[in-house]
Amino acid sequence: YVNQTNIPLVKDWSNRSIMVPVNFANNFDEILNFKRREDDTWVVTVMKSGTTWTQELAWLILNNYDFETASTKVLMQRSPYLEFSINKNRKPSTIEIANNLPSPRLLKSHMPASALPSDIWEKKAKIIYVTRNVKDVVVSNYRFQSGLGLFTGSIDEFVEYFMNGSLLNLPFWDHVLEFWQMRNDPKIFFTSYERLKKDIRSVILELCKFLEKPKPSEEILEKMVEHLDFENMKSLCNFFVCLVIILLFIFLDSHAGKLQQQRIDKLKDENNNSSSDFQFMRRGIVGSYKDELSTDLAKKLDQWTEFHLRKAGVTSEELF
Ligand code: A3P
Repeated sequence: YVNQTNIPLVKDWSNRSIMVPVNFANNFDEILNFKRREDDTWVVTVMKSGTTWTQELAWLILNNYDFETASTKVLMQRSPYLEFSINKNRKPSTIEIANNLPSPRLLKSHMPASALPSDIWEKKAKIIYVTRNVKDVVVSNYRFQSGLGLFTGSIDEFVEYFMNGSLLNLPFWDHVLEFWQMRNDPKIFFTSYERLKKDIRSVILELCKFLEKPKPSEEILEKMVEHLDFENMKSLCNFFVCLVIILLFIFLDSHAGKLQQQRIDKLKDENNNSSSDFQFMRRGIVGSYKDELSTDLAKKLDQWTEFHLRKAGVTSEELF
């Protein structure tokens, strides 16, 4: 996993290969056969596209704007990441956590459409899909994965892997464009990190409609904007993120090598230290690639983007 070359492959419904961590691969049938409930909602994304932000937003709408619980209970417990831990030896698995949640549930997945539980498609669950401009996704993923020691190469190598689809849950364009093609389906809400940044109020109101919830009052809407503000979520997240990272290491340890207490301690320190290289809530801006990617890499990603968008007949303005 460290070089992302030994990640196991699983087959999606159309027999396509997708890379997933070994724990997921061993129990992949559990994901494909996960039983949905009538009133489930999913947040589906490529990692680092604004998943956490959107989950928090949707969770609040679905839970009557319960800001108190949102500020005290870790998001992962309120809105589990379905394929995060399905290792039979570790209990409870994220599937069990999901099965024990009261309705209405908000579930998260990074799986492409073709590898989501079949029940989602057979009985049509509501899906909120969030995308983000690819250069910022690359930068954010690289910082995240190298910060955790999950990727040890250079950013140039990372871009190669990314474009080849040789990282978790990729290929990127298949992931995004499959949902883009379904964007007019009444059960799909397609949005982007950039739209959230530009006009979160409109996204909140549109999501209320999608989730069949009444519009919030002006006062609640204001509270939502404050709660979902990057700095506010960052301060809440610093408290929770250590927990999540420790869990991540525990769940990945079967293929990431021996879990070292030293490394956990280091991560704890780093998360408590705002000058550290690794932060889950990192910059929270549009265009962080501008000072984090070389001109060559940005150009390479632009050409790659243009190729895929032209093929799909869509412009980046429409997507992001
Ligand atoms: P950066 O690394 O560019 O800062 P995900 O939740 O899908 O893993 O996405 C993480 C990215 O979303 C990170 O991007 C993180 O900082 C950003 N993010 C999380 N919460 C945010 C918020 N409330 N406002 C803006 N950006 C947010």
